Amino acid sequence: MTQDEMKQAVAKAALEYVESGTIIGIGTGSTANYFIDYLASIKHKIEGTVASSNASTERLKKHGIQVFDLNSVSEISVYVDGADESNRHLHLIKGGGGALTREKIVAAASRKFVCIADESKLVDVLGKFPLPVEVIPMARSYVARELVKLGGQPVLREGFTTDNGNVILDVHNLQIMEPVKLEETLNHITGVVTNGLFARRPADVLLLGTKDGVKKID
Ligand code: 5RP
Repeated sequence: MTQDEMKQAVAKAALEYVESGTIIGIGTGSTANYFIDYLASIKHKIEGTVASSNASTERLKKHGIQVFDLNSVSEISVYVDGADESNRHLHLIKGGGGALTREKIVAAASRKFVCIADESKLVDVLGKFPLPVEVIPMARSYVARELVKLGGQPVLREGFTTDNGNVILDVHNLQIMEPVKLEETLNHITGVVTNGLFARRPADVLLLGTKDGVKKID
């Protein structure tokens, strides 16, 4: 099984978590895209979706799936999204696609978070994947200096602006032993919008694509 086939398998398996007549939170990235494509086959079953990026909104609309503004919905039954890394506690690093802030907001507003990923994403310790931090543009240099003080090596994601009009610093060389603590520490740096650690609100279920099929970790 290729990595892409594993992504497709977990995206299909996530359909099991879609409850009839509810609103579904939609992530961003190649695995989330597969989920959107599968969701299209049962779109009549759901009330609609809330998307975590302009890219996912476009893809949903192309399939004729209703997309609501988060402010106009009172409940999202499940949020389905990929990840760049997950540990066994389902603490995640996300934001490889730069959509971390909206992803974190939709995840926070959802009753359940189902993470879908291929087996390469499961790690013992988070941090090999550079941690994305979304930053207000005028604070870029200040925040970078603060990140260096914490032992990281921030690199500006060149030529990239988030859907919120901000920049991303990808922080290399972090060995994240205490994800909840680091998530809070980074979010307290003035100028940081949010960071790609999803530890205070981890996933509830991880569907992991492996060569032996889809494994469920919860
Ligand atoms: C986007 C994300 C994605 O979920 C993450 O980058 C994984 O992407 P892919 O499914 O393409 O491997 O956090 O901001």
